Amino acid sequence: MNVLSVASECAPLVKTGGLADVVGALPAALAPEGVHMRVLLPGYPQVMAAVTQHGVALEEADLFGGPARVLYAEGPGHPDLLVVDAPHLFARAGNIYLGPDGQDWPDNPERFAGLCWMAARIAAEGVGGWVPDVLHCHDWQGGLVPEYLRRFMPDRRAPTVLTIHNMAFHGSTSAERIGILRLDPSRFNTGGYEAWGRVSALKAGLIGADRLTTVSPTYASELLREEFGMGFDGLMRARREDLVGILNGIDEDAWNPAADPDVTPYGTPEGKAENKTALRREFGLPDGNGPLCVVVSRLTSQKGLDLLIEALPSLLARGGQLALLGSGDGWMEEAFRRAAQGGQVGVRIGYDEALSHRMVAGGDAILVPSRFEPCGLTQMYGLRYGTIPVVALTGGLADTVIHASPAALAAGVATGIQFHPITAEALRGALLQLCDLYAEPETWARMQRNAMAQPVGWGRSAVAYARLFRDLSARA
Ligand code: ADP
Ligand code: GLC
Repeated sequence: MNVLSVASECAPLVKTGGLADVVGALPAALAPEGVHMRVLLPGYPQVMAAVTQHGVALEEADLFGGPARVLYAEGPGHPDLLVVDAPHLFARAGNIYLGPDGQDWPDNPERFAGLCWMAARIAAEGVGGWVPDVLHCHDWQGGLVPEYLRRFMPDRRAPTVLTIHNMAFHGSTSAERIGILRLDPSRFNTGGYEAWGRVSALKAGLIGADRLTTVSPTYASELLREEFGMGFDGLMRARREDLVGILNGIDEDAWNPAADPDVTPYGTPEGKAENKTALRREFGLPDGNGPLCVVVSRLTSQKGLDLLIEALPSLLARGGQLALLGSGDGWMEEAFRRAAQGGQVGVRIGYDEALSHRMVAGGDAILVPSRFEPCGLTQMYGLRYGTIPVVALTGGLADTVIHASPAALAAGVATGIQFHPITAEALRGALLQLCDLYAEPETWARMQRNAMAQPVGWGRSAVAYARLFRDLSARA
């Protein structure tokens, strides 16, 4: 069973968020299920620098404005990559999506159309005798694959799966680009890739893929509702039979408290103490009796951290502390910097993988107050490290945490705290509950042990993906 994964990020080579972790983890997770998955990735500078090339698989004289090749390549953790080497599209320093002005690169539509175009050619022609049975496309950057397959495989199209990691990004552009993007103008309509008078790469995938998946069961059901569908809830309802939520896992080798090179390793909650002391020192926080909360996140409105800014005084008043690592919207960075002046909050603006491990190991609790969260990975890191997640009741956060309700506490099964509605007031209540639970050592230790015992790996989800791919290729 051969699957071509088409994505704009892949850990550890290039990452801006959880998409990279998932794309990076799936090939190894699926191998034991008999699936040979190869990732097709844009040849950004950091990718080209990290891989060893093993020859040219395909050539294209003009890929939306310049010559391109697909290379066989091998990189850290990925022995079997395919890389689109197209310098006019991908050889740029800085953020993979944004120019130096902080805005999307103006040619992002062409850049990721280029990725999809080469994916469709691989499906039609194969590379070195390897032909994918299924194409697995991720987010809007993989959305145009079904459109190009119509062109390259007019008689028998390879089956496609689109995984929605985030419905907020539509990958849309002006209809004037239809020609430049070599799209079929007759499909610029409601049943095709048109959305609100524009070309939408995401819509192309939502319409054209044979099956749709998203990254948690709860987000799959939320997508059917206006509140979460980002304009595509009607389309999602029309396709609900083809939509399934498959929960993400985390990389249990990279996130293993007993063998994490970035922290003082531990196998029981008691082992966290040294890491907590070290983390306080690193953030310049004094000793205290309340819970040390951590946040590792993009600072955007999705993540709801503005709610935390509002609710924070209540946590601090109860002796709690906060250590935050993140970057994103300038005003939010500034607000947390201001909060840090009081001495009980430590803030690092930036992206730092090793520090994120030290924070998850050293924190008592990890806060994820997202307005929507397709899956979320950091609450699962928290579970594995005995760092109690305090999360909004939405998406994957609803599916991975067992709320400390009176019943769950009585039964001894709670692993964290969930709050709803997603407001500063409800978050404040959750933080106060956190302080109460933290003040009861036995209850707290029980929750930590429960958390550390939760399955958060890829096991069941890998089986679900493999079954989906097999069903599809059997029908093709
Ligand atoms: P999203 O993909 O929406 O950002 P996820 O929770 O799925 O949310 O994944 C975020 C990933 O990025 C996690 O692996 C998290 O640890 C990592 N991450 C986010 N911000 C930072 C940061 N500032 N430094 C290090 N890692 C970060
Ligand atoms: C997106 C979502 C996040 C999810 C990740 C990986 O970035 O925001 O919730 O965990 O994709 O699927």
